[in-house]
Amino acid sequence: MQIANFATEHFFAQYEFTTPHLLGSSDCESVTVAELLALAGVTWEEFGRLGLGYTESLGHPELRRQIAASYASVHDAEIIMLGAPVEGIYLMARAALDPGDEVIVLTPAYDALIHLFEHVVGAANVKRWSFTPGAGRWELDFTALRHLISPRTKLIVVNFPHNPTGFLPAPAQMQELVAQVERHGLLLFCDEMYFGLVHDGTPAIPSAVDLTPRAVVLSGLSKTYGLPGLRTGWLVVKDATLRANLINWKFYTTICPPAPSEFLALAAWRVRDQLRARSLARIATNLALAEAFFARWGERFQWRRPLAGSTALVGMNVPSVRAYATHLAETAGVLVLPAANLGAEDRYLRMGFGRAGFGAALAAFDAHLQAEDESPE
Ligand SMILES: Cc1ncc(COP(=O)(O)O)c(C=O)c1O
Repeated sequence: MQIANFATEHFFAQYEFTTPHLLGSSDCESVTVAELLALAGVTWEEFGRLGLGYTESLGHPELRRQIAASYASVHDAEIIMLGAPVEGIYLMARAALDPGDEVIVLTPAYDALIHLFEHVVGAANVKRWSFTPGAGRWELDFTALRHLISPRTKLIVVNFPHNPTGFLPAPAQMQELVAQVERHGLLLFCDEMYFGLVHDGTPAIPSAVDLTPRAVVLSGLSKTYGLPGLRTGWLVVKDATLRANLINWKFYTTICPPAPSEFLALAAWRVRDQLRARSLARIATNLALAEAFFARWGERFQWRRPLAGSTALVGMNVPSVRAYATHLAETAGVLVLPAANLGAEDRYLRMGFGRAGFGAALAAFDAHLQAEDESPE
């Protein structure tokens, strides 16, 4: 059976490990195993003693306990550890929906948040709630959301902090979203893979799961903590019936988390504040470089500073960003993500601020733009 092309992952599969300058990545700079163990005060001997048998299918009890305690209202039993964060989106699409249900997805969005739901209920039953481009920032349109809700709507899918816009709702907007979910008896799937990456001046908001029992939250260590190679993620699910269904689907996909990842995730959780602080500091430095770049190239781009997360959605004055990004990767060795992959118009690109090589990558992009300006057309 066919499913829509996972354009973002195909693009990264082609270019991520062959292009020297990564300007479009959504994750934050990673650490080595040795750095992580040293930071967490764990020895190689302890790691070496780890058995490589199957692990507990819902995750290591201590890890689940500590993760649950990081939320205001969550019990250990409500945490399902996954084989990888993206698995959580698949499980939710499979377990929460029946034929004929409608889903509303905030777009643009990470491909899986659109296409897995389209695959399960049919593309016509997935309604797109689009961000609107305001002056200098992205905006949510609640009137548009109210018009999209029908008697068949079962689920609203959002992602905060948002990839790619870097949007985070104000506390009152989050309350409004929760009010809509509760008024219509819906489920809210809130992808919180970038949780805790909140920039100076932006008010933080609680996890959706602490605002309504109708929320199912996806989170993990890939982005905020810079550990995508661990493939550690979890779902927080309060509804016992839905949770049982999700767990049943998980037995068909990954069964249980990999033992080495769980061991390292426990180490990472001890030092998560330091890991997050490193990511935030790097993003702040790189955002300052980006602001100077966009001040210099204001004629060619539409820049909306992100409120949170590690990415921004940037307009560019070219006929097709898809074509431009391919040309840029192949001629200048600079990788930006065409945001058409994420359901945006083909005049937007995604930039990512979490990587250590951002400054050098931006300088290479700058030199390329300058060469374009100087070349006789
Ligand atoms: C919003 C969002 N959700 C989920 C994922 C999947 O995370 P992972 O690649 O760690 O499975 C990503 C990855 O880019 C993402 O941006």
